[in-house]
Amino acid sequence: MKIMSGNSNLPLARAVAAYLELPLTDASVRRFADEEIFVEIHENVRGEDVFVVQPTSYPANDNLMELLICIDALRRASARRITAVVPYFGYARQDRKPGPRTPISAKLVANLMTEAGADRVLSVDLHAGQIQGFFDIPTDNLFAAPVMAADIQARYGDQSLMVVSPDVGGVVRARALAKRLDNAPLAIVDKRRDRPGQSEVMNIIGDVQGRACILIDDIIDSGGTLCNAAQALMDQGAASVTAYITHGVLSGAAVSRVNNSALKELVITDSIQATEAAQASDRIRILTIAPLLGEAIRRIADESSVSSLFD
Ligand code: R5P
Repeated sequence: MKIMSGNSNLPLARAVAAYLELPLTDASVRRFADEEIFVEIHENVRGEDVFVVQPTSYPANDNLMELLICIDALRRASARRITAVVPYFGYARQDRKPGPRTPISAKLVANLMTEAGADRVLSVDLHAGQIQGFFDIPTDNLFAAPVMAADIQARYGDQSLMVVSPDVGGVVRARALAKRLDNAPLAIVDKRRDRPGQSEVMNIIGDVQGRACILIDDIIDSGGTLCNAAQALMDQGAASVTAYITHGVLSGAAVSRVNNSALKELVITDSIQATEAAQASDRIRILTIAPLLGEAIRRIADESSVSSLFD
């Protein structure tokens, strides 16, 4: 087994390799003067089971292209099996046609990975589970929920918890977390979004009075959804609001929005390498999913069950 990394999230790739007690594959991913990407693998990978760690986060197109070129280099170097380890799958939100004459870019990206030569894909909290069906190769979708639930139990387990979905689309995810928290009660924020990038909270379904609310979502991007939801929950009498979000996209002014919000704390994972602003924020805490990914990789390599990680 070999672990290779692009430039998207080297600390995570190193942590995964450390979990597996392996060195990272010796390779360089460089740019030519015109920003073309050039990959060179400096060790033999012939016949190897290779896992390429590369979330397709900001800059999404560069990181995606790096991943595709790494896969192509491995295929031409006769790797036996190539798994694209994409903890954050960029473009996942474009998983259907929102209107006439629009693309389904998540499907296009899935096709690109397959066409480049990936034999498998390993991701975490895909925006929608059915994105697995966009691939005709095996796809494992891991859940950060066990990592989050352990942290919530340790930090907030003595409080009167309420799990909250920030929109109707996230109810399944929120219910799964609530189940792990001794069947904590569930509330839903009924959110309406008029234009992309803008969000508006309408009302809260459920009684959050006096509760320590745990907002759960897959992505925080502009932070609008979450910060508005946190304010609405506090307005309804919540004791506190903490957010657990798998992918800290945190674009633009998102970090300062979080810093100035009603959120007690935002907890994200390291599926995306945190920006300096996010690392410097005393309102943002980062949980690692390296052991989760490492264990899944070990099981894929051993051909043993991955789903039993979540029993
Ligand atoms: C939407 O369906 C996602 O689950 C997130 O709620 C959304 O992407 C968050 O975006 P933002 O932080 O820009 O409101």
